[in-house]
Amino acid sequence: IEYYAVFGQPISHSKSPRIHKLFADQTSQLMDYSAQEVPADTFTVATNHFFAEGGKGLNCTVPLKELAWQYAHQLTERARLAKAVNTLVCQADGSILGDNTDGTGLLNDLIVNHCIALKGVRILILGAGGATRGIVPPLLEQKPSALVIVNRNVGKAQAIATDFAALGPVQTCDYASLIDQQFDLIINATSASLSGDLPPLPPALLSAGGSCYDLAYANQVTAFVKWGLANNATHSLDGLGMLVEQAAEAFYLWRGIRPNTAPVIELLNDERK
Ligand code: ATR
Repeated sequence: IEYYAVFGQPISHSKSPRIHKLFADQTSQLMDYSAQEVPADTFTVATNHFFAEGGKGLNCTVPLKELAWQYAHQLTERARLAKAVNTLVCQADGSILGDNTDGTGLLNDLIVNHCIALKGVRILILGAGGATRGIVPPLLEQKPSALVIVNRNVGKAQAIATDFAALGPVQTCDYASLIDQQFDLIINATSASLSGDLPPLPPALLSAGGSCYDLAYANQVTAFVKWGLANNATHSLDGLGMLVEQAAEAFYLWRGIRPNTAPVIELLNDERK
């Protein structure tokens, strides 16, 4: 049996062990996947120990993604760009590869699962933290007609726009400037939603037929998903689908087999109804 784990803090509510167990059963893989509470200051020791004991792969979540990025011996291109790693892979020669499957996870949920077009559409991202940094490169790849980052602290948004300028145009603004603007897709990448808060959004911000996506997920409907529903969004989704999709991409890196995500998403969705 081969060992995998997710490290983070807090970790007790993580759905990742459940998701990977469902994937392993579905694809007949003999593997064990556990969750371990690891604070930032013991990340290196815990990770060294995990791989020394024969661990094959690790997921890293809040607050460890930047540390995992520094830890990896090699990085995939998408992890290098994101400056964050959510998946570590022990390779045949014992070296550790760092990847970031979050962006692909988001794209798969938007495009494949929900048929939400990104090419030629106007996209707005709320917030300018690590989550935004991870999704800007994959979104730019889809050639939207505009990609705007809005943040309270506009300087943080500008820093991300500058970092990715070579990949495509990214505009930035503050919340007051959203008045008179419209977007086809609004993605919430702030940490506000989970505490029930919502950034100040003007009423006509979402185009007719537009959709909303909250990177966060919870057992209850998030404040931003509620906002989308109240503003007639075609789709107003939380990040559960992205969570399962990023896990599937990690599973593929580790095991070389792509699990079928649809039944897993359906099961987890049913459980919170
Ligand atoms: P992560 O790595 O998950 O993206 P983060 O780096 O702490 O988390 O970033 C959180 C983002 O949410 C920040 O951009 C923050 O805005 P500021 O940079 O202006 O602080 C944003 N955020 C958090 N709470 C918010 C709120 N109530 N309204 C608007 N933005 C909020």
